[in-house]
Amino acid sequence: MSCLVRSKRNLEDFLVIEMEEKMDEKTIEKYKKAGDIAKKVHALAREIIKPNVKALDVAEKLENEIIKLGGFPAWPMNISINEIAAHWTPSMNDETVFKKGDVVKVDVGVHVDGFIADTARTIEVGDTKWNDLIKASEEAVRAAIDIAKPGIEVSKIGAVVEDTIKSKGFNPIANLTGHGLQEYENHTPPTIPNFDNKSNVKLEKGMAIAIEPFVTNGIGRVVDAFNSEIYMLENPKPVRNATARKILNIVMDKYKTLPFGKRWLAKEVSGFGLEIALRELVRNGSLHNFSVLKEESNGMVAQTEHTLLMLDEPIVTTL
Ligand code: CO
Repeated sequence: MSCLVRSKRNLEDFLVIEMEEKMDEKTIEKYKKAGDIAKKVHALAREIIKPNVKALDVAEKLENEIIKLGGFPAWPMNISINEIAAHWTPSMNDETVFKKGDVVKVDVGVHVDGFIADTARTIEVGDTKWNDLIKASEEAVRAAIDIAKPGIEVSKIGAVVEDTIKSKGFNPIANLTGHGLQEYENHTPPTIPNFDNKSNVKLEKGMAIAIEPFVTNGIGRVVDAFNSEIYMLENPKPVRNATARKILNIVMDKYKTLPFGKRWLAKEVSGFGLEIALRELVRNGSLHNFSVLKEESNGMVAQTEHTLLMLDEPIVTTL
């Protein structure tokens, strides 16, 4: 799942984050298990995403598959279509149907005890017209994986991503980035840019990171399109509304600091009450509501993403 750059410069560019805990064997096993599950989910996605299939059915099938395989969805299945770059997941009564030629970014999040596999692939529904665009994102992430190791500057990764994409005649999306991963945290430092941002932040041993080049034939920037179905705990505060309190308790217990979907809550809190409570929780800062992000010039967007563990010999858990 992608990270949107809100400010011109991230605070973390000035800070060196010390990794307190080194990655032990148990942690590595959990990261690997999450990665294996995510790979199987991608294989299933490729089978079931076809013309005339409902996006909601696909999202639910893939989320159920994660649970069947012994993991938990780390966020609602993101299946953003065409110029929508990220953070779209169908609502509980969404009627969207995949059409021939749709370019679908399947961004899968799996966690095992909070240890996350974050991995995206792009599928063109029943056609191959956008093959070059999709290939460019795959080759960009490959080039990044080839050089990612403890000690390398994140700007060097951004540079190879940018060069690979531009050599194919496309643009990287500059304000979407890869990121670090920690237990129950999907967006932690460092930022992994998709262009040479001149940052001298380095990858460090013990980090888990997601590298996710977004490629477009547009200008290479995303903007907020509309509110998504995806929320996340932000700064929980006391609320009077009983439904809102119930939601906060569910979130803190089940989803913790990972993103979750409105339609997941709909199984426990019904209808109108859910809408009102969510609105109140967003207004008082308890929850963050993600925006669906679209390419500003309505360019077509492809994305490929993998999760890496920065061990002495780095491993890719999702490949
Ligand atoms: Co991500």
